[in-house]
Order: sequence, then C-alpha cells, then structure tokens
Amino acid sequence: MMTVDPIILDRLSAYSGAPADECAGWFEVPKSREMGDLALPCFRMAKVKRMAPPAIASELLPLMSGIPRVIKVEAVGGYLNFFFDRSAGARDTVLGIINAGERYGASCEGEGRNVCIDFSSINICKPFGVHHITTTVLGHSLSRIFAHLGYNPVRINHLGDWGTQFGKMLVAYKKWGDHDKIENSESPMRELVELYVKFHQEAENDPSLDDEARAAFRSIELHDPENWALYEWFKELTLREAQRVYELLGIEFDSYNGEAFYEDKMPAVIKELQDKAVTTVDNGMTIVDLSEYDMPPCLILKSNGGTIYPTRDITAAIYRKNTYDFYKNLYVVAYQQNLHFRQVFKVLELMGCDWAKDCVHVNFGMISMLEGTFSTRKGNAVYLEDVLRSSIEKTRAIMMEKSPDLPNMDEVARQVGVGAVVWGPLYSSRIKDFTFSWDKALNFEGETAPYAQYTHARCCSVLRKAGEYDIEKADWSAVENESSAALIKALAALPKAIKLAAEKYEPYLISRAVIEICSCFNKFYFENRIMGEAEGVSAARLAVTEATRIAVKLGLYLVGVEAPERM
Ligand code: ARG
Repeated sequence: MMTVDPIILDRLSAYSGAPADECAGWFEVPKSREMGDLALPCFRMAKVKRMAPPAIASELLPLMSGIPRVIKVEAVGGYLNFFFDRSAGARDTVLGIINAGERYGASCEGEGRNVCIDFSSINICKPFGVHHITTTVLGHSLSRIFAHLGYNPVRINHLGDWGTQFGKMLVAYKKWGDHDKIENSESPMRELVELYVKFHQEAENDPSLDDEARAAFRSIELHDPENWALYEWFKELTLREAQRVYELLGIEFDSYNGEAFYEDKMPAVIKELQDKAVTTVDNGMTIVDLSEYDMPPCLILKSNGGTIYPTRDITAAIYRKNTYDFYKNLYVVAYQQNLHFRQVFKVLELMGCDWAKDCVHVNFGMISMLEGTFSTRKGNAVYLEDVLRSSIEKTRAIMMEKSPDLPNMDEVARQVGVGAVVWGPLYSSRIKDFTFSWDKALNFEGETAPYAQYTHARCCSVLRKAGEYDIEKADWSAVENESSAALIKALAALPKAIKLAAEKYEPYLISRAVIEICSCFNKFYFENRIMGEAEGVSAARLAVTEATRIAVKLGLYLVGVEAPERM
C-alpha cells in the first residue's frame, strides 16, 4: 500500500474543496510502472470544477512540484501520475518490518475489548469429523487475528452435550457396551459412535428402544447418580480424543461450557421472556412469534416443557455478555444454521438486549471430500484426526524423497502435513463450499501452505548461509527494479490484509497476501543475485529476504499454520 503524502493531500484538498481524507480515497495504484506508482483520476473533480479531466490534470500539475520523495509527476489524459523515489519507500517498508518483527501489522485498537469466539463446538459421542475442519480452523485463525490487533479473544467450545441422543447412548451402552473395551480403545469416540449407530439400526425394528431412550435421558436430566456418571464418562472420553486433534492443530480453548452448562441458567431467562411478554403459547409450546420479521417462530419450550437448542443459545449469549462483557460475540458455524442464529439474535433484541447487534454469525460453506460427503448416522464419517495423520504420513513420504537428510523429519512432516489440511478452507471466502483433495492440498508448487512454508524455509536458508550482514550499509537502489518493487509492495500490503480479515472475518485475505508475497519473493530470488555482489547490494537484498521471512511466518501463524526453518 502506497500511502499518499499529506502535502499532496493538502494541496489537492485546497484545489478541489474536498476534505483531505476524502481526497486520499481517490488515488489508485496503476497497473504498470510506466504510469507511475500512484495515479489520481481527475474525473472525480470534473463536476465541481466544471472542466474536462485532462484540463484538470494540466491545472494540477504545476501545483504538485517539490514534494519530498516524489521524483516526477506527469499529466496523462485525465490522470495525474506520481513517480516515487522507490529506494526510500523500500527502505521504510523493509526496516519497518524488521523492526516490528512478529508485531508487524499489530495494533492496540482492541485494547480492553473481549471478543467471544464460539468455534469447533463439537458434539459429544459423535465423530469429530472432517466436516468440523472449517469451524475449527476458521475460529482458531480469527482468535489469532483479533489477538494481533490487541483484542482479547475468548475461545469457546460450545459442546453439544445435551439432548435426547444421550438417552440413546445410555441405552445402547447398557445393552451392548463393554466398559474396558471402550476405555482401552485407541479411539473411544469410534466405540461410542458404533454403539450409537447400532442403536439406530436396532430401533428401526424395535420402536420400544426409543421409549427407553427418552426415559434414560429423563434420568440424566434428573441427575440420577449412576446414569449421570456414565454421561460424564462419555463426555470425558470424547474430549480426551478431541484433544489429540486440537494438539495437532495447536488449538486451545478458554472455555468448554457447552449446552449442558446452561441447564440451570435457562429457567431465569425463560421467566424473563415470559415476563416481558416476548413469548406466546401455541399448541402447548412456548414460542416467540417472528412472523413480523419474516421468520418462522423461535421455539423456546416444547409442549412437554423441555428446552431446546435455541433456548440454550439465548441463555448462553446472555451468560457471555454478563461474564465477558464482549465487544463482539462471534459464532463460527455453517450456513445451515443461518435461520437459527437470525432467530436467536432477534429474540435477544426483542428482550431488550441492545448488545444483540454485537452478535455475529460467522457462517461458512459446506466441506466435502472428493470421494463424497458423509452422514454420521450411517457411520461412514471421515474423522478429522485420520485426515490429519494421513496428511502427515503423505508429507513424510514426499520429504523422504525431496530431502532425505532433514534433521527433524517427524516434526517438519507434522507442521507441513497439518498446514496442508488447514489451508484449504482458509484460502477462499468462507461462504464458498469447499472440496478437499489430496492432490491440491499437498502440492508444493500451487497456492498451498506447503508452498508458503517452502518459501519461508528458502528465506531462512539464504539468511543462514549469508550469516551476519550490516543493514546500515544497505544500498536501497539495489531493490528498485521491477521484481524487488513488486515484492516490497506485497510486503507492505500485509497489515491492511490483516485489518480487513478481522473486519470481514475472512482469514483468506491473509492467506492470499502471503501467497502474493511468496510468489513475488520467488521471482525476486531468481532475478536478483543476493550474495557475491557489492556489500551494499547484498545487504539490501538480504534485508528484503529477512522482511519476507518475517511477513510469511507471521501470515502463516495468523491462519494457524506453522513455519519450519528447513524443509
Ligand atoms: N454443536 C453444533 C454442531 O455441531 C454447533 C454449535 C454451534 N454453537 C452454538 N452456540 N450453537 O452443529
């Protein structure tokens, strides 16, 4: 991002009558260098000046002389083109990055502000499947991005740990389960899911099982000691296994308060809804009529008095406001739940929660594997842990061929294998449906995490081989040529991408900025000799390499990808 010198803005503002910050928005970056580094399209002023753009450009030209770091200004057609002293720009950008280090692009705009991020939010006794990848990595990335901008992220795993399915689990376990087999299994989650699937198969022929399940869930609701202990054990087993995935991904949570946590907090909220006459009763059900807002009613209490998913989310939002006094309250959940969140936010608003406007459903598209999509009930889920482990294995095999002597092969294979999987859902706008393919993910040359990681390792290797260099001696004119200028421009664009990623909840803006830096660096690397030049030339190019290393590592970190130094 080229920033416009305040002197230019002052003079332009005086000429046009528009405020300086409005003038700042008029500038464009020209497509090619022949047209300068920055262009002002003069048609913006045609109306006020009652003149044709070329005439405005000629009138402005003499007003733009003697500006620091501007070496030439030209009026071409309706444009005024500015040519900057590139070496000064390069020096400022590169030194700025090197001095900031991992704080490059950081800010304190979020100081003292909590941002709740509800993400991953897995379901107990169900597979932690590949379909959970997007919420998991998107939420994780957002937490890092907000932290970079000074906010305090509160990472919440809103567990799906309540509902009639736990009655089914209990019945299935008591009929067919084996404690030791489950407890000692490599994957207790799979054992539980198997029982759950069996329950559904059996219940097709024997509907009485469903009655048993209802009664069993009722006993959990009443905290029957034996059944409650089993329920807690199911939870513990599921989380124990999920933890392995979180460890691979480097994810931690601040809270695992899930649906069950709100059991005893709902009555007060329901009472408030009733007292404020937000709810009505319809066929024995307590609902909030939302027809005025073009939505079906939001169910609060079933006719048997039981609470449901929206009741818990309404209660959870209020709890989060009271506990964290959030600045924003984000829900990283697939677009299938669009209506659910619109309803929940509307009910909060109708209750008089003026902070309902700070609740955001950060929705995203569907994920599928090339091989097809999955359904939990039939038991053919693809486990995220399997996908990650097999990616690590495949990566290891590739690296054994490419760099068999790598010292810490296992560690690097993990970093690259995990990065490859994480990258996919974070490389496109989140709302797009995403199809996972091994060929794409593990391609070291495409626009992938391994490619970015490889570029980072290349920077590290250049710097390692060069050893110490004296940045004071850098001759910045050595990085004025096309490929260098393009790289420096890409490096300078990262902070804006980070800020925009937070504003739009779109980490892909950062991934794209990283890939842009990487492809510019690789071009720079092939077109410019770094070592064996005059000391000042080498120093400037090494400084650019160092800035690239810092920016790529930071960008990868913000999307939850590690950057090994050798690969
Ligand atoms: N457990 C739910 C699911 O897997 C997602 C929960 C999202 N968070 C929330 N507060 N509703 O579909």
